[in-house]
Amino acid sequence: MSETTTLLNHRYGPDHTPSVVDNPIIDHLLNHRSLRSYADRPLPPGTLETLVAAAQSAATSSNLQAWSVIEVRDPDRRARLARLANNQAHIVQAPLFLVWLADFSRAQRIADAQDIELKAPGYFDSLLVGSIDAALAAQNAVVAAEALGLGTVYIGALRNDLQAVIDELQLPPLVYPVFGLCVGYPATQTAIKPRLPQAVTVHRDTYQVDAQREPGLIAEYAALAASFSRGQGQNSLDWRDQVIARLKDESTLHGRERIAGTLNAQLLALR
Ligand SMILES: Cc1cc2nc3c(=O)[nH]c(=O)nc-3n(C[C@H](O)[C@H](O)[C@H](O)COP(=O)(O)O)c2cc1C
Repeated sequence: MSETTTLLNHRYGPDHTPSVVDNPIIDHLLNHRSLRSYADRPLPPGTLETLVAAAQSAATSSNLQAWSVIEVRDPDRRARLARLANNQAHIVQAPLFLVWLADFSRAQRIADAQDIELKAPGYFDSLLVGSIDAALAAQNAVVAAEALGLGTVYIGALRNDLQAVIDELQLPPLVYPVFGLCVGYPATQTAIKPRLPQAVTVHRDTYQVDAQREPGLIAEYAALAASFSRGQGQNSLDWRDQVIARLKDESTLHGRERIAGTLNAQLLALR
């Protein structure tokens, strides 16, 4: 069995393996898994610069480059951020912890030199622009880190108490933290987590719900995901129930339901 077929079997299960073009970069992408346990091993010199060069090579809306990244080195600050992000130990443990920011303050500083107040950053679309820019940049950094034999995990929980994180990182107006990212060598092996069959994810011409009707492909995926979780010694709650539990009310937002007010205070998403 080829390397690609093995990776696809892990990603989709044997019954829904698509046929893909053989290519080492595709294999690299198929091999992604999040890492939450980091070895106490320093990173090679130049790691941050390498990840940032990859990040800065991502596409960026109108070439605005409306993102920044903070490397959090201070262990006390890391510990405080970990507490704010649901006590996730890997935030402290990982040798490198990055916070990716949507950032229009640099643009405003450029405009300040000409006494111009920028109006567009206050619109909701600019929040999307900065957030998308930051996400594309971070994902390039993730792919680069994995190419160096490192693992990563995003930390969306950094938005649970957005104002406290803004204060901790002393972020100026027009900046907000989109998510954190832990980077380091693996302390344990992790596995490729299955994804939905392509038939329920890909639509042709218009949005189609037929493939999503139950019982069907989604039920098959739930069974695959449950068997994966059991294999990892994790709770095997049905994936459909996990989706519902995660989205059914604001209690699962862990403070993020208040994010709009905090963004507005940063002069973002005002209209
Ligand atoms: C924006 C974003 C935020 C995330 N936040 C967290 C987090 O706070 N803690 C965590 O352990 N994993 C977090 N994850 C990782 C996801 O749980 C993980 O990507 C998903 O379960 C799929 O697993 P895989 O990456 O191993 O394929 C986040 C992922 C993304 C894309």
